[in-house]
Formats: sequence, C-alpha cells, structure tokens
Amino acid sequence: MCGIIGYIGNKQAYPIIIKGLKRLEYRGYDSTGIALLQKGETIIYKQKGKVSHLEDTIVDENLSGTVGIGHTRWATHGEPNDMNAHPHASQNKKFVIIHNGIIENYSRLKKKLKARGYKFISETDTEVLANLIEYIYEKGNVSAEIAVRLALTKVIGAYGIVVICKDEPDMLIAARKGSPLVIGIGNNEHYIASDATPIVEHTKSVIYLNNDNIAVIKRGELTIKTIDNAEIEPQVQELTLEIGAIEKNGYDHFMLKEIFEQPRSITDTFRGRIASDLSEMRLGGLLDIMPQLEKAKRILIIACGTSWHAGLVGEYLIEEFARIPVEVEYGSEFRYRNPIIYKDDIVIAISQSGETADTLAAINLAKEAGATVLGICNVVGSSIPRETHAGVYTHAGPEIGVASTKAFTAQVTILTMMALILGKNKGTLSEESYLKLIKELTDIPKKIEEILKSSKNYKSIAELYKNAGNFIYLGRGYLFPVALEGALKLKEISYIHAEGYPAAEMKHGPIALIDEKMPVVVLATKDKSYDKIVTNIQEVKARNGIVIAIVSQGDEIIKNMADHVFEVPNTHEALAPLLTVIPLQLLSYYIAVIRGCNVDQPRNLAKSVTVE
Ligand code: M6R
Repeated sequence: MCGIIGYIGNKQAYPIIIKGLKRLEYRGYDSTGIALLQKGETIIYKQKGKVSHLEDTIVDENLSGTVGIGHTRWATHGEPNDMNAHPHASQNKKFVIIHNGIIENYSRLKKKLKARGYKFISETDTEVLANLIEYIYEKGNVSAEIAVRLALTKVIGAYGIVVICKDEPDMLIAARKGSPLVIGIGNNEHYIASDATPIVEHTKSVIYLNNDNIAVIKRGELTIKTIDNAEIEPQVQELTLEIGAIEKNGYDHFMLKEIFEQPRSITDTFRGRIASDLSEMRLGGLLDIMPQLEKAKRILIIACGTSWHAGLVGEYLIEEFARIPVEVEYGSEFRYRNPIIYKDDIVIAISQSGETADTLAAINLAKEAGATVLGICNVVGSSIPRETHAGVYTHAGPEIGVASTKAFTAQVTILTMMALILGKNKGTLSEESYLKLIKELTDIPKKIEEILKSSKNYKSIAELYKNAGNFIYLGRGYLFPVALEGALKLKEISYIHAEGYPAAEMKHGPIALIDEKMPVVVLATKDKSYDKIVTNIQEVKARNGIVIAIVSQGDEIIKNMADHVFEVPNTHEALAPLLTVIPLQLLSYYIAVIRGCNVDQPRNLAKSVTVE
C-alpha cells in the first residue's frame, strides 16, 4: 500500500527520495509525489502514475534542497489522480503532509473545517489532516509540533504521517498509529520511511516508531514523544537486511527471483532450529510458551490471503501430528463476527508483512478476550511481532513481488516444525516418525532445486493456455490448500479467473464448468487419496476437460490420462505442499509474463494491506 520516504540532512534530498520511492514501488501504488524545502518554501510535484513518470516530468525543474518527503499512494479516498496524490499542502501553505492509513472521522472534521472557512481541493482524508494541523497552529499560535500532536488527538483511524512546516524548515515531524514508520539514523542526517527498504542502503541503524509516538526529526537530533507529550528513550536497532536482498540480481522479476530463492529461504527458515545430527528441532521464540501450547484445547489460526492458505496447511499438520483441534479464520471475518474466544485458546497469527490490518485487528480482539497470541511473520520489527505474546520469524528474507511465494513455503515450514515438535512433546507422534519427518524436511530444499531445474518447461504450457478464460485447481488433503494457493497465484498476477476446490467437491457444482476449453490443474502426488484423485481426473477427462497434473516422480498412471504432467520428487505427504506449490508458482508466473502483465506489481494490489 502507500509508501513513505523522507530525508533531512546535509545531502541533496531529491536523489534519496526518488530512489526511495522506486524501492517502495513493490508495495503497490497508483500515484506518486514529492515535496522539497527550498529557501523557506515547500515545492510539490505529484501526479498519477509511476515514479519514473514523475521523474521524467520534473527532470528540468530545480530539485535542490536538503529536506524532502516522497509518497506512493494507493487510492482509498478519491480516485487516483494528480490532485489526490500526496503530498498535500494545507490551505495557507504552512504545512505539507504525506500520509499512510485512513482517517475514519475525516468527513466530520472536514465539515467543521469548512464551517471555519477552509476550502478543499482534493477528495482525500489527508488534506483534511493537513488543514486541521494548520487550523490549530494558526488559531492556537502554537509550535508545529504541538499543532500536530493536538490535531492527532482529534483523529480516529490509522496513520503514519510525515509533516513539513514551512515556518520551521529544519525539521520533519512524523507520527504513527497503525501504519508503520521506521527512522534511519545517519551521520547528522535522518531518514524516515514506511519500511526499511529505502533506508538500508544509507544506514543500518534504525528506530521503529511505536503506535501513538510522535518524532521530531532534525538533522542531528531526534526526539520521540508519546501523543501525551511524554518523552521516551528511542530504541536503536541494527538492520540485518542486505541491499542485495531487495534487488533483482539478474532475474527479470522479483517474483521469479523469489521462486528460485526457495531452496535457500526454506533452509534459512530451519537454520539453527534443527540440530546438525537431525535429532531435534526447537523454535526459540516458542520455548516459553510450549507447555501452554501442548496443553491447548484449541488453536485458532488467523491470517489473510496466501498466509491463510499456509494456515490451512497448518491445520492439517497440527491436527494430524499433535491432535489439537485447529480452526483457521480470515482476519477480516474473525474481527467482525463476534467469535467465541476462550482464555486458554492459542491464537496463531500468520503474516508475511506483519502489517495486515485485518490480521492485526483480529489479534487485538483475541488479546482482549484473554487468549495467548503467537505470530509467524517474515518482516522483522513489523507490527504483528510487536503485538503478539510470542512468535517466530520465518527468515525468508524480503519478499518484494506482490504475489507471495517464498513467504508461503517459509510459513508452511514453520507450521510443519511446530506440528512435529508439539506432536513429539505430546506423545502423539512417535520418535521414529519425528526423526523421519525432520530428515524429510531437511531434504526439501534440494528437491525444490530439482523442480526448478525444469522451470523452462512451464513456458510452453503457459503459451498453450495463456488465453484461457478460467482455470480450476483441484487437490485433496494437504494439497487442497495448495490448490487454493495455485488459483490465487494465477488470478492475482495474470488476471485469469481461477478457482481452487477440494477435488471431491467438484461434483457438487464446479463440474458443470468443465468442457474442452477448461484447464484443470490437479495436484495428484502419491498419498492416501491417490486413487481418489485419479478418479477425479477421469471425471474431468470424461467431460473433455484439459488436465494439467502435478504428480510424483515416475507416475505412469496419471501420465497416461492427463494432457500434461509436471513431476515433483517424492516426499512424505505432509510435506508435499512445499514441493507441489512450486510448479503452480512457475505456471502462474510464465502465464502472466506471456500475457504481458506487471508480474511484480499486479493492478489494484498492494504488498502489505494496511487498510481493512
Ligand atoms: O502480509 P500478509 O501475509 O499478512 O498478507 C496477506 C495477503 O494480503 C497476501 O498473502 C496476499 O494474498 C498476497 N498478494 C498473495 O500472493
């Protein structure tokens, strides 16, 4: 979603801001803008469209200045156009502001400001905040810092803002509630951004702003206060992120790079957590909570999108190995449907970004009800790990492509480890099976490497079906969530309609769709439902459907029935999601590329969904 970058220091701000905006493009956006302070005036350039478009438009302008802010906007209030793009100036041009999040009571505030003579030129909630700050500043004759603080006490909603005040030019004011902000500390300079990606090439020392914190940022001085004006000691952290991790490194797209990174990212997920003799596994972040987890009568998994699919795999794993009932919930449904939450429930929130608004709201609901909440997150220092009682990082590394790939396999790896540890501790999984499964898990990266060796084969199939109007994905057991994930991957990046179904459900409706034009992707590796999925394939073929099957190496039966097969190495059926999802990622990727889609930044989508 929207991205923020700001700089104050002795260097020229513009090159830092524009590069920072390019680093933030992965979050998804539809318009962009910058503001620079020049001799006591704030100049703003903003327009609908890409950062490079803005860069080209203003190439001949005076872009000097050592204080600046930039924004990528993902429209919420008002269509994507030049006027609604950020930054927004207040009516009397005293303040310029960029904003991530949503001011929920903006129309009430707008009405009041209108009654006091304010006129608005955009449809945004952000302009309302800019004018509210200015109104308090002028009417109350207070400092910019106080005006921002008082304005924020009137605001309901979520925000990450950065404000420039023309009268106090050597200062940026930033504030956070809900939408994350991170401050980078350089040499007599400071950076501020919505995530660390635009900062990491400048400095590794960062401070994550907490909710209800306001930072007054000067060149060599930083003060952080609560919204109640109490000064707090900043907690400086070192980023472990490397710049190479957020670059394409020769791949055409981040998505392809991230698909190919999976042997490494899965290894990173279990690195240091599995003993070198494969006799033991531990998840440090859950050690203290383990006794409580083992006793749990129920586990609730909460997530959205791909993370929800990982959660579904987690349900199957935990129920099978640890025999604890699991329910998997969409954050958005859970938070609004008055769910039953017991004090002894264990809630596991899964999120790549750690910022998903619906998942965060569901976490808070669960905490209010007294449940213990754990997080499985990828982005270090993000909101969910900070809001949960305990948790584990997936260590997949930055995922820049909007379509989640390596985050999914890392999440499933953690869930597999959790299920196995729990099962072993509870005695519901034998020592022998535990050891066998650890070995199988550590073999997964090289099996994925094998699958990736034939990645080019997916191109020709993609070429054949690039114009299909619909796809169906079928799977059973552990492979049902993979079918959902495959369908999501295809629709989000290629814009082809796709549905995932439990294979046996096909005859309860979707079978009506099958004809000679319908590609049906069937996940059909050798497991306990193998015979049944073979029957499902026959049912599709009997109606002239096109079967693209993902099968175990050496499977001759399905090879003779399906139109196309992709083989994956053999593994334990509980680990099959980690292998079978790879062909589906590749298939979606190549179809989207052939269709000319913007694979890394699909239309309308954002990488971290920070609004509900
Ligand atoms: O950051 P999160 O894992 O919480 O994000 C959840 C979904 O928004 C995300 O998985 C989304 O569905 C992806 N675009 C899927 O590829």
